[in-house]
Amino acid sequence: MKLIFLGPPGAGKGTQSENICRDYGIVQLSTGDLLRANVAQKTELGLQAAESMRTGQLVPDDLIIEVIKNEMTRHRYQKGYVFDGFPRTVRQAEEYDRMLVQIKQKLDCVLVLEVPEDELVRRLTARRTCPVCGKSYHLIYNPPKADGLCDLGCGELVQRLDDTEGPIQNRLRIYNNQTKPLIEYYTKKKLARRIDGMGDIHEIYAQIKEILDPIAVAYDLVVSII
Ligand code: AP5
Repeated sequence: MKLIFLGPPGAGKGTQSENICRDYGIVQLSTGDLLRANVAQKTELGLQAAESMRTGQLVPDDLIIEVIKNEMTRHRYQKGYVFDGFPRTVRQAEEYDRMLVQIKQKLDCVLVLEVPEDELVRRLTARRTCPVCGKSYHLIYNPPKADGLCDLGCGELVQRLDDTEGPIQNRLRIYNNQTKPLIEYYTKKKLARRIDGMGDIHEIYAQIKEILDPIAVAYDLVVSII
């Protein structure tokens, strides 16, 4: 099962991807997490991406396309994956289409999470993330079990550098200008499925499961009961 999560910053793509991977046994590929790991390790890619990420700009298409091409050769993606944060521009989507043709695979569904802008700002400013495993929390809506600590025992949670006022505004503007057109792109291909991203995390996931269960059955993936 091959999926894309599309939605503005803070819509809940990472949060819901975790649920999908747990229930359907596929893996998440978050370009944001992957880039942050490279920034932390000061790799060549990380050094090139760091400034764009800090200010909430997009990393250049060529770099991202190279990253995706490399990742897709890994065995772990064979059973299926959910892309969280890729593609983000029409050019990235077109390149991904070409890759799929080359490797004779098809994309099953594009999940579009819709959340109003004022709620996105509320979610992002109170988000805390684990720098080790990437799990994200919200101080009010989705707090960790122990204050300031990752539930998975990794250690202290941090606030992402781009989860502050200026970068958040940049990210929202860039989403509207460069990423939102992909909804139309995938609607034309009859792959886009819209999901109301407001409300309880479990209720939103129930909407997602309704869409994914029939696809998972076709792939013979485990469908668990929530
Ligand atoms: P990336 O890491 O992908 O960030 P993003 O797209 O801005 O998305 P977020 O991770 O901020 O939000 P999310 O939708 O995953 O929300 P979450 O589930 O955490 O990208 C970062 C940067 O990397 C980019 O700015 C760019 O520089 C670069 N980059 C990455 N990919 C790229 C690409 N393809 N091309 C170019 N550059 C790229 O939820 C948010 C908060 O809300 C959490 O606190 C969560 O607990 C809470 N929450 C979730 N659901 C709910 C709910 N239903 N109710 C209440 N709270 C909720």
